Amino acid sequence: MNKRFYITTAIDYVNGEPHLGHAYEKVIADVIARARRSLGEEVFFLTGLDEHGQKVQQAALERGKAPQEYCDGLATLWKSFAVKLNLSNDDFIRTSEPRHKEAVQAILNKLRREGHFYKAQHKGFYSTRQETFLTDKDRLPDGSFDPIYGEVTELVEDDYYFKLKPHQQWLIDYIEANSDFVAPTYRRNEVLGFLKNNVLEDLCITRPAARLSWGISVPFDPSFVTYVWFDALLNYITVPAAWADPATAPILSSSAPSPKRALQLWPADVHLVGKDIIKFHAVYWPILLKALGLPVPKQILVHGWWQKDGEKIAKSTGNIVDPQAVINEWGLDAFRYYVVRELDIGPDGNWTDSGFQSRYDDDLAKGLGNLISRSLTMLKKYRNGIVPKRSDDWASATDKAVSEIEKCLRSYELKSALENVWGLMKRSDQYIEKTAPFKLAKDPSQAALLDEVLYNLAETCRILAILLWPFIPATSGRIYAQLGLPGQPDQFRSAKWGGLAPGHAIGEVGPLFPRKDQTAR
Ligand code: MSP
Repeated sequence: MNKRFYITTAIDYVNGEPHLGHAYEKVIADVIARARRSLGEEVFFLTGLDEHGQKVQQAALERGKAPQEYCDGLATLWKSFAVKLNLSNDDFIRTSEPRHKEAVQAILNKLRREGHFYKAQHKGFYSTRQETFLTDKDRLPDGSFDPIYGEVTELVEDDYYFKLKPHQQWLIDYIEANSDFVAPTYRRNEVLGFLKNNVLEDLCITRPAARLSWGISVPFDPSFVTYVWFDALLNYITVPAAWADPATAPILSSSAPSPKRALQLWPADVHLVGKDIIKFHAVYWPILLKALGLPVPKQILVHGWWQKDGEKIAKSTGNIVDPQAVINEWGLDAFRYYVVRELDIGPDGNWTDSGFQSRYDDDLAKGLGNLISRSLTMLKKYRNGIVPKRSDDWASATDKAVSEIEKCLRSYELKSALENVWGLMKRSDQYIEKTAPFKLAKDPSQAALLDEVLYNLAETCRILAILLWPFIPATSGRIYAQLGLPGQPDQFRSAKWGGLAPGHAIGEVGPLFPRKDQTAR
C-alpha cells in the first residue's frame, strides 16, 4: 500500500449559498489534485462541510427545523455545487456524520486520559458569528469589537480547556526548522511573529450543551459539546481513520469497522486554507496532533481573499460574485481558468466583471479556442484530417517548456504554469502568422513544409490538452476528442513531443469558447 498524496480544503460552514471564496479554494485544490494524479501520483482529495455550532443551530431554529434536517438540505446543495465545479474529490466529509462524530469522541477520550485537558470557569466575550471567545486584544482602539465578530455577548461558564502552552516552544522550533510548513513565506513569518510575541492561551474546547446542543457530545461529560473548531479540524484525521489508515491506529483503538480497502493518507501533504483561518491550522492543529502522537501535516498552504471591484465581498452590501451565475453564463472552465490565472496562491485578488470578460475573450476565445480551431481546421482542409509525417524541430523547446510547467505544478505555482502554457500558444500563433499555411497550401512545391507546419500545430494542440487538464478538464477532454484521441488527456508523461502518430485521423472540429456578442449583453 502506497501513501497517497493527501490534499484537503477548509470545510465550509453550512450556511447560505457557496460564494466566490469557497469556489476559489475548492478549484485550486482540485487543480493541485488533478495535477498530481496526472503526474502519476495516487491522490486523495478531501473537502466537505462544517456543520455544527451556534450559528447553524440558530438558523435551523429560525426556520422551524431540526439542525440535522436543516444541514441535510443545505448539504445536498453544497454537494451539487462540488459537482458543478467538476471537483475530483475522493470523499466529502460532513461533520454531522457518525463516522466523524465517533472518531472525535474517541480522540477526546484519549486526550483526556492522557491529561491534556482541565476544567475551569470562563468569563469572557463570545462572538457567535466566529464561534469564538474574544480577548481584549481583539478590541478596536475605541474599545468596541470589530463588526466582523457580529453580536458579542459576555458569558460566564465552566468549560474544558486544552493545554497549549506546554507546546509553544516546540511549535516555534518546528516552524523554524521546517521552512515549508507554512507557505507562502510571509504567512510563515506571520505565524512565527505571533508565536514569539504572545503567550498562547489554552484553548477552550467545549460549550455547555444547555447553550449549544448542536455539536458533538463530550463523551466523558455529556453536559458539554465540543467546540466547533476542535470538531472541524479533526475532520482531516477522522476521514483517514474511516479509511482505516494505519497511521491513525494509535488514536482509534476501539473505533469503527474497517472498510474493505485501507488507504494510507496521513500525514496530509497540503491543507489548503484561507488567510483568515491560519491560526487554527498553523498553531492549534499541529499542537493537537502532537498531543495525539501523530505527525503534523507537511504543509499549510494559505491562499488570499477575493474582493470584488476593490471592496470586501459581503452579502449585506450586495457586493458579491455568484459563482453559479457566472458558470451558467460563461461555462465552468472559464470560471476555473479566471480564478487560477488571475491570482497566485497567497496574495488577495480582485474580481472585476470586465477583467473576467477580457480573459474570456482574449485568453480563451481568441487565444486557446482560436488556436485549436485554426490548427485542426487547416489539418482537415489541407490533409483531410490525417496527421502528416512527424516533425521534430519543436521537440526540444516544447519538452523544455513542459518540464518548466511540471515544476510549477509541483510547487503549486498554478498561475505561472498557465502563463507558461500560454507561452506555448503564443509561439504557435506567431508561427501561423509567419508560415502562412493558407499560402503554402496553394503551392504544391511547399507540401513538405506544410506537412511540417500542420504536424507541429496538431502536436502542440495535443500537448496543450494534457497540460491544461488539471485546470480546465472538460475543455481538455474536448480538445482530445477533436484530435480523435481516445480517453482523457490526464497523463502528464504523454506530454512528450511526438505522441501524435502520422496517419492518425482527427475527429470533428468545433468551437471551444464561443465568442460572446457584446451588444447582446
Ligand atoms: N468552517 C471553517 C473552516 C474549518 S476548516 C477545519 C470556515 N468556513 S468558511 O465557510 O467561513 O470558509 C471556508 C474557506 O473559504 C476558508 O478557507 C476561507 O478563507 C475561504 N474564504 C471565505 N471567503 C473568502 C474570500 N472572499 N476569498 C477567498 N477565500 C475565502 O472558516
